[in-house]
Amino acid sequence: MCGIVGYIGKEKALPKVLSGLKFLEYRGYDSAGVAYIYDNEIKITKEVGRINSLEKLLDLSIPSNIAIGHTRWATHGEVNIINSHPHKVGKFTVVHNGIIENYLKIKEKLQKEGIIFKSSTDTEVIPALLDYYYQKENNILKAIVKTINELEGSFALGIICDDDKNNLYAIRRGSPLIIAPSNDGIFIASDIPAILNYTNKYILLNENEIVKLSKNEYQIYDNKLNKIIKEIKIYEGSQDDAMLNGYDHYMLKEIHEEEKVFLDTFNYYVENNKFKDTMPNFKKYQNIHIVACGSAYYVGCIAKSLIENYANIPVYASVASEYRYQKNFYDQNTLVIIISQSGETADSLEALRKAKNDGIDTLAIVNVAMSSIAREAKYTLYVKAGPEIAVATTKAFLAQTTLIALLTIKLQGQNDLLKEFIGLEKHIRELLNRNYQEYAKIISKSNNTFFIGRLVDYALCLEGSLKLKETSYINSVAIQAGELKHGTISLITDNTLVIGICTKKDISSKTISNLKEVKARKANIIYITNEFIEDNFYDQIILLPKVNDIVMPILTVIPLQLIAYEVAKIRGCDIDKPRNLAKSVTVE
Ligand code: G6P
Repeated sequence: MCGIVGYIGKEKALPKVLSGLKFLEYRGYDSAGVAYIYDNEIKITKEVGRINSLEKLLDLSIPSNIAIGHTRWATHGEVNIINSHPHKVGKFTVVHNGIIENYLKIKEKLQKEGIIFKSSTDTEVIPALLDYYYQKENNILKAIVKTINELEGSFALGIICDDDKNNLYAIRRGSPLIIAPSNDGIFIASDIPAILNYTNKYILLNENEIVKLSKNEYQIYDNKLNKIIKEIKIYEGSQDDAMLNGYDHYMLKEIHEEEKVFLDTFNYYVENNKFKDTMPNFKKYQNIHIVACGSAYYVGCIAKSLIENYANIPVYASVASEYRYQKNFYDQNTLVIIISQSGETADSLEALRKAKNDGIDTLAIVNVAMSSIAREAKYTLYVKAGPEIAVATTKAFLAQTTLIALLTIKLQGQNDLLKEFIGLEKHIRELLNRNYQEYAKIISKSNNTFFIGRLVDYALCLEGSLKLKETSYINSVAIQAGELKHGTISLITDNTLVIGICTKKDISSKTISNLKEVKARKANIIYITNEFIEDNFYDQIILLPKVNDIVMPILTVIPLQLIAYEVAKIRGCDIDKPRNLAKSVTVE
């Protein structure tokens, strides 16, 4: 999704803003732009494509002390320079992350007032509205309040005004934004990695809080323009979290952090084979709804299998974009669990709000501290994955799966199974150190891949298939092994690639039968299992360590991630920033 960085201070602003934007590339974008004040004038430069192309158009040595920058992920209006941010109308220049839902109504109203719009974006109504109210109020803060009172939707904004070249303004509702004071100036940014090169101090803005920043101070206001004081937080991770540290790609770096991520998550909740206070008691809940998007939803599918099997509690897993509009059946003993790496995914956040409005208890399983979902849920359990930069999630998936296994044990009410986690990191390390090239070579040549498995293995098929699609653009389908024969098997012919996942002994014979059915149609089979069998139904085998079912998914996902990475590399794909994708989808 779009990313915002702004700087005001004693140093040159453009290099800092561009460096910040590069750290937000992971969010996904298709064009970029900056506005800066130089020679007492506001200058705007925008470009379609990567930030490097924008950089070539700029003279970074310009002594400008105020700049706002933006990476755009197109929602309203095609990808072109006119639609890129910043947008300027009258005296106001704005960068925006989010969506203005009532922009057509506002546009019509302002057009009647004679305002001419240049772009097809929803964003352009914001500077137009600011300018409109500024002409009436002659006060920037009051114009901001009037504007946001009229806007419906989500927004994080960086604003500069022709009449005030010593200040920068920012505001958020729905979309994330932080303020970060450094030694030589102050930043605004959509996320922490953007500022880590310069400072580890940050302030989280709440909904509708407005900030006025100058070279060496800032003032925060509520939406009635009362001054407020907020706590400065210190980011506890290291600057290295946002660096490649010798790896070719963030995706590979993050996969290789999985041993640590597993241990950090486990140790945060468990000590001496007992749960710590960090894991609350959820005994009261008799049915669970899990709601999430993308890979986080697939963790929800794993959770369904584990919680139903071990804790005997019915679980309904739904994708958030459906859940928020469907009829949901719940009662006072229902717990709605939202799983989200970023904690900002719009559909997941709205699903959480819907459950809250209905008076249902909510639990957030989130990676990003103090994100919207983390803040709004009744309970929050953090996974300890650290910043994840690659668009395709890997270490956060493993951390969420670890936490789900722990939560299952907590819901079951006995601690015995906690011993199954002990030593698991050795298996993680061993799987990380294997070479998956031979499988990747086979998959990279296939235009169609089928993942088949049952129950929890099917959930992992969904994730394996998504990882492959998003990083290497190979069409792939995940299907429940037993369902294959009801249609999809018609696509299996000579050498069609089928990846079978089978880690549950009690149903392995069933999945093996399904694999034999596709072998009979001459499919090429990669068999991923934790139980070696000598048979001739597969062409390649990936033998996983045999561990208890409760922790097995934590291991199964690792080869799927590394294979997707290797395939994308062979095919020369933009691994960390796949086309059209965004890391944190903050629009519906
Ligand atoms: C995007 C990302 C996925 C992610 C999904 C949910 O589509 O590309 O990797 O699984 O959003 O994100 P969340 O932050 O809510 O886990």
